[in-house]
Amino acid sequence: MSNHKFIRVWEENGIGRIELNRTKVLNAINRPMVTEIITALEQFDRDHDVSAIVINGGGRAFAAGADIDEMAGDTPVSLELLNQFAEWDRIQGIKKPIIAAVHGFALGGGFELVLSCDVVFAAEDAKFGFPEVKLGVMPGAGGTVKLTKAMGKAKALEWLWTGDSMDAAVAERHGLITRLVAPEVLLEEALAFAARLVQQAPLSLRLIKDTVNKAIDYSVYEGMQAERKNFYLLFASRDQKEGMKAFIEKRPPEFRGE
Ligand code: HXC
Repeated sequence: MSNHKFIRVWEENGIGRIELNRTKVLNAINRPMVTEIITALEQFDRDHDVSAIVINGGGRAFAAGADIDEMAGDTPVSLELLNQFAEWDRIQGIKKPIIAAVHGFALGGGFELVLSCDVVFAAEDAKFGFPEVKLGVMPGAGGTVKLTKAMGKAKALEWLWTGDSMDAAVAERHGLITRLVAPEVLLEEALAFAARLVQQAPLSLRLIKDTVNKAIDYSVYEGMQAERKNFYLLFASRDQKEGMKAFIEKRPPEFRGE
């Protein structure tokens, strides 16, 4: 267990665990918490013993947004000088799989944190939304962009303009969620999925993530060129030799991430 102030961080069975831990304010994300999250993610990304990362919220929510008390007095100049989104941007640089396990509210910046993860397990009671419009602002950490890419303009505007929360089942229908599960098995299911990733070839996992992320923005041609280069690159790995040798020898592979 770590000594962070706003999150709890630990490692178990090859899985890096991050639990948001400001439960009295539904894990409202203040700036030091963002720093703690990105620092923990980057440490896990460099840790050879960690193959996948799971993020969840302690208490009754994932996160009810950025900390409104902290933001209320901001000005354009204070925000420009603070450049807080530079830290959010670093989440995109994490190469290992990040799995969100979401229950309760995931609103505003909390929803943006979910959309920054690779795979989302959601409890049936989870509620996602961008209520910023009700505060006279709008999402600022990629929410409008990622929601629009996921569900198209017409639907995205409906959610962004009303600020309504969508049930987990609706979020699943929009392709925002990997798997919807009963609240009591949320962590169990997310950890079981992470445990499956721990068994896979780590370099394959990271280059698949890289290629899928490129597929979101690239043309089909560019995406396929990027895919091909990553495919070739994996033939430089020890794990490719081991994986194919193990298949031929009819035994399970022993991957090392090399
Ligand atoms: C600061 C928050 C908070 C937030 C909840 N709290 N959300 N504090 N920032 N985002 C605090 C409440 O003030 C309250 O503190 C305690 O958490 C419990 O919340 P309640 O409101 O009593 O709980 P409940 O009645 O169940 O309502 C839950 C809720 C509501 C519907 C989620 O708390 C709510 O509307 N929260 C704000 C959601 C929001 O607008 N998020 C977007 C923020 S803007 P006390 O001290 O009274 O017990 C944003 C911009 C992102 O995220 C920009 C990029 C980073």
